[in-house]
Amino acid sequence: MAGTNPHRVLVVGAGSIGERHIRCFLATGRCEVSFVEVNATLRETIAARYAACGFATLEAGIATGPEIAVVATPAHLHIEMATKLAEAGIRLLIEKPLATSAAGVARLISLVRERNLVAGVAYVYRSHPVLSDMRKAIESGKFGPQVQIVVVAGQHFPTYRPAYREIYYRDRATGGGAIQDALTHLINAGEWLVGPVTRLVADAAHQVLPGVEVEDTVHILTRHGNVLGSYSLNQHQAPNETSITVICERGTVRFEVHGNRWRWMTSPGGEWQDGLVQPLERDELFTRQANLFLEAVEGKQPPTCSLEDGLQTLRVNLASLKSLETESWETIQPEACE
Ligand SMILES: NC(=O)c1ccc[n+]([C@@H]2O[C@H](COP(=O)([O-])OP(=O)(O)OC[C@H]3O[C@@H](n4cnc5c(N)ncnc54)[C@H](O)[C@@H]3O)[C@@H](O)[C@H]2O)c1
Repeated sequence: MAGTNPHRVLVVGAGSIGERHIRCFLATGRCEVSFVEVNATLRETIAARYAACGFATLEAGIATGPEIAVVATPAHLHIEMATKLAEAGIRLLIEKPLATSAAGVARLISLVRERNLVAGVAYVYRSHPVLSDMRKAIESGKFGPQVQIVVVAGQHFPTYRPAYREIYYRDRATGGGAIQDALTHLINAGEWLVGPVTRLVADAAHQVLPGVEVEDTVHILTRHGNVLGSYSLNQHQAPNETSITVICERGTVRFEVHGNRWRWMTSPGGEWQDGLVQPLERDELFTRQANLFLEAVEGKQPPTCSLEDGLQTLRVNLASLKSLETESWETIQPEACE
């Protein structure tokens, strides 16, 4: 363990992503990690695997006085748990999506401000070195103003998450369906690149995944102020491919997640030029996210995704679901969750 005062991290929920957070916070070499898990069998397994202390209740975890908590339970539980943790003065990294409704979010944000706590949402694309590099290039202005964003993504979810039928994914009320589970990552990345979504219209359906009824295929048209956007995603195709293209007045840039690279083109019909190319194992990305959050806690930089930015993306999730019902454009109203 580097240094004499390791950060004391409590991971809440030791399921799929919670276990990864335990492993990746440990991999920073700067933390002691304990966890809360209600499932007794899983608690024992994880405690043995990582030589970590596991608690059956949030209260028992809080009583040990951790400095940081990673909230990795299903999304409908995030706000209530995060609020209890913030009341105890604990810094917060909350998994995406921030919540499944607006209830309690404003109160949590004001509590975090009052207590001057570092808090963020774990939208992990914001820790991706390739996307960060592409964003810097856009921000430098060398391609001119952004005018359009086009996001195309697909993945065979059952291959990567065989238990999808049994977990939060099967029900929108617990954060399930393609919009809240997968598209939200891309919307948050898109907002990071071209600014907040201001209005949208959504189309989605359950097309393929056996054993669930939630949408597994989604198309969203967005406006981010003057920037036009489109996002298309499914969770059943064979290719595991995601690309985020930002078209600017004087050049086009593209993050190819599956290719671990970003590219740009400025001459019509020309050749793609490579920006940063960096192969990255999934754990490396999460370890990088853990390190960036520790740096935020140490006051070296703000969290990569603030609670306010997470709330904005939550508004987009909720407006997308509403648009499916109303079959019309929805305006994102900042006061809707305040
Ligand atoms: N950033 C990413 O790439 C990523 C990937 C997967 C999931 N997630 C998000 O992380 C969250 C969890 O997803 P998951 O896939 O790990 O789900 P999961 O079902 O695998 O794990 C959730 C765990 O929380 C535990 N739990 C439930 N209630 C609890 C409570 N009151 N106290 C303590 N533990 C409790 C469950 O027993 C389970 O082990 C969701 O919000 C999801 O959207 C993010």
